[in-house]
Amino acid sequence: MVQAWYMEKNWTGDQREEHHKQPPEFIELDKLYKLSGVEYFQVNHLNPSSDEKLKSLKSNRGYTYEDEITCSKECLQDYEKKLKIFFEEHLHTDEEIRLVLEGSGYFDIRDTNDDWIRIKVEPGDLLIIPKGIYHRFTLDSNNFIKAKRYFIGEPVWTPYNRPADDMDCRQEYLNLIKSF
Ligand code: LAC
Ligand code: NI
Repeated sequence: MVQAWYMEKNWTGDQREEHHKQPPEFIELDKLYKLSGVEYFQVNHLNPSSDEKLKSLKSNRGYTYEDEITCSKECLQDYEKKLKIFFEEHLHTDEEIRLVLEGSGYFDIRDTNDDWIRIKVEPGDLLIIPKGIYHRFTLDSNNFIKAKRYFIGEPVWTPYNRPADDMDCRQEYLNLIKSF
């Protein structure tokens, strides 16, 4: 089950640690949405294709593409380089949709005050990270995650590293969270 918390501001050391703010401050899912627009769904990861919630998500939002990605030393080409790219603060011109099948990891997202929220995802957790939000990803100390990726149409995974404030998707995102 997903957990979200504020990160310590000037942490040092291993990005794969939890890096809680002191004292720890956890964030409820409805608050997470209001602070960022990030959406969460619980899905049957053992049989996603027969999960009704996932089926309606796919048809309502038009997710026509899906594939699987495994991040581990053995399975990911250019492992070290890719993980470095994933952890650079970036945004996309499209939603980032991930359903965890196995393993775990952290999606870090910026809230409306530009503070980092760390979201720990585990099997069955489906996150929709809105287009235009600054975020990054890291494995945790287990060094393994397998996830499904969804997309509307032909996938574009291009990350635009911060600063990307002039991009249309960024401005749209800022307008979206202003309306919450
Ligand atoms: C991505 C994640 C790492 O862009 O944010 O695939
Ligand atoms: Ni991304």
